[in-house]
Amino acid sequence: MAIREQVHMQTPWQYTEVPEMDDVLFQQWVELLEIRTGIALPESRKTFLVMNLASRMREVSIDNYQSYFNLIMDGSSGQVEWEILVDRLTVHETRFYRDEFTLDLIRDKYLPELTTTKDKPYTVHAWSVGCATGEEPYSVAMLMDYYFLNHPEFYYGVTASDVSRAALQTGRDGIYHQRRVKNVPDEISNTYLEKVDDEHVQVRPSLRQKVCFTHINLLDLSQQPIGKMDIIICQNVLIYFKRELRNLILDQLATCLKPGGILLLGAGEVFGWTHPELSQIDYQSTLAFQRRADIDEPGIDEVRK
Ligand SMILES: C[S@@+](CC[C@H](N)C(=O)[O-])C[C@H]1O[C@@H](n2cnc3c(N)ncnc32)[C@H](O)[C@@H]1O
Repeated sequence: MAIREQVHMQTPWQYTEVPEMDDVLFQQWVELLEIRTGIALPESRKTFLVMNLASRMREVSIDNYQSYFNLIMDGSSGQVEWEILVDRLTVHETRFYRDEFTLDLIRDKYLPELTTTKDKPYTVHAWSVGCATGEEPYSVAMLMDYYFLNHPEFYYGVTASDVSRAALQTGRDGIYHQRRVKNVPDEISNTYLEKVDDEHVQVRPSLRQKVCFTHINLLDLSQQPIGKMDIIICQNVLIYFKRELRNLILDQLATCLKPGGILLLGAGEVFGWTHPELSQIDYQSTLAFQRRADIDEPGIDEVRK
């Protein structure tokens, strides 16, 4: 059949109006998102919510918000649908080597101190909390791998966690567009990235093996079997949470640090939070805390017992 005839036979494209969302419905969705993820959606983000809901509702042939809400609340099929929706309602913006000062702190201050003070062999455990599609944990893994080339008795592993299963899968695949890796220093990118095609690169298998992607909702931290960490990096995540919840999660993350371990936040993301066992690290343009080396608190999982 000629292409012209095939085109005429196709269902014509139809413009579908995005349904109106009144304040009551908006509040209902805001509450659901906050209860399940901690994300507080302000009125100014209503368009974001509406557009993403409408787009997903079109895919599942539902034309009103209440029916879709009922589907989300409906037992295990609702849970499956929620996993898809949560990926649409969370912001996954990220980049390789996004916060260069934080990475400088790890490379130029923390690791040199660690390699001179720890008994060898030693394994460094790092955790990227709210890792999105993997650029942050891979950046930390690349940095450590490269650093430890000169310290053969040091090993490392990175845990990368997020609430979005789709984002985690992208991280596991480790394939990125060239423009997403443009901040990676040449010697690092030559060592850890390989070309897939003219537009994409992939993280080399040897480095991918060092990063374990796992589903953790920050609201469920107290139910997770989390071991003690040397490095916890949590950037551009807690900005979406209300202050009390943010502080509660920070307290929980603090208990996951080994003595001497560091908690790295985004500069300017958190105000007025302190912890009795952590002291703030003075390092240019960063917001970082270190657990006192003489205090070995039980981790969250141990507190539960
Ligand atoms: C803007 S990205 C930050 C990515 C990376 N940390 C960075 O700074 O480049 C925020 C991530 O936090 C995740 N997130 C939001 N709420 C979460 C929750 N309750 N538990 C775990 N991850 C969450 C989102 O899915 C998203 O991938």
